[in-house]
Amino acid sequence: MQRGVEIGRFITFEGGEGSGKSTQAGILANRLSRAGRPVFATREPGGSPAAEEIREALLSGQVKQFGPLAEAVMFSVARADHIDHAIKDSLQEGRWVVCDRFIDSTRAYQGVTAGVPRGVINALEELTVGALSPDLTFILDISAEEGLARAKERADGDELDRFESQELVMHERVRRAFLDIAEEEPGRVVVVDASQPEAMVAEDVWETVLHRLNP
Ligand SMILES: Nc1ncnc2c1ncn2[C@@H]1O[C@H](COP(=O)(O)OP(=O)(O)O)[C@@H](O)[C@H]1O
Ligand SMILES: [Mg+2]
Repeated sequence: MQRGVEIGRFITFEGGEGSGKSTQAGILANRLSRAGRPVFATREPGGSPAAEEIREALLSGQVKQFGPLAEAVMFSVARADHIDHAIKDSLQEGRWVVCDRFIDSTRAYQGVTAGVPRGVINALEELTVGALSPDLTFILDISAEEGLARAKERADGDELDRFESQELVMHERVRRAFLDIAEEEPGRVVVVDASQPEAMVAEDVWETVLHRLNP
């Protein structure tokens, strides 16, 4: 798609469970609104009516039984609808799109940790996202222990020692995958230390947005 000066900007938040993506996406969306920018705050999987239906199938585990390739495909089907029926129009109307998870989650989870070959992930990305890749992506980086503790606390107040070691190993692999993406694409991706207090993470995010995108 043609991106001109009057077109909105596209910002995504990525990172493991409990890293603070939803929190920070919300704070940034509010901040941009207060700065007078029209905002479309969205999330993946989902973000459009049809993609939200696929979200249900993905998060309930209905798709999982078909294996990682099927999951990668279904995430891509949802993403294509989200782009075609929400993101593209928002950007063309001059909105700032703030999205909680996007392509890098597919690369990290279905690609690196679930083993779908990079070539397949790239092809799916090319088909769905094409030239519409984010202007700026934040990777919220946090240790497996801290991230899982936060996610668990949010869910049911369980203690860290209840986690299976497998869960920690998986979280570490996801973390590494996100950091590798940041190294590969420094022009798009910025790593933020997500172990800091919420307000400090938000400050780092805002400083980067001011510096890189000049809202
Ligand atoms: N910087 C932070 N420090 C401490 N707790 C945080 C911080 N950011 C978020 N949280 C809390 O951690 C939990 C997970 O945050 P959330 O934004 O839902 O993460 P994610 O969307 O990445 O899974 C929530 O209970 C949230 O209130
Ligand atoms: Mg979240």
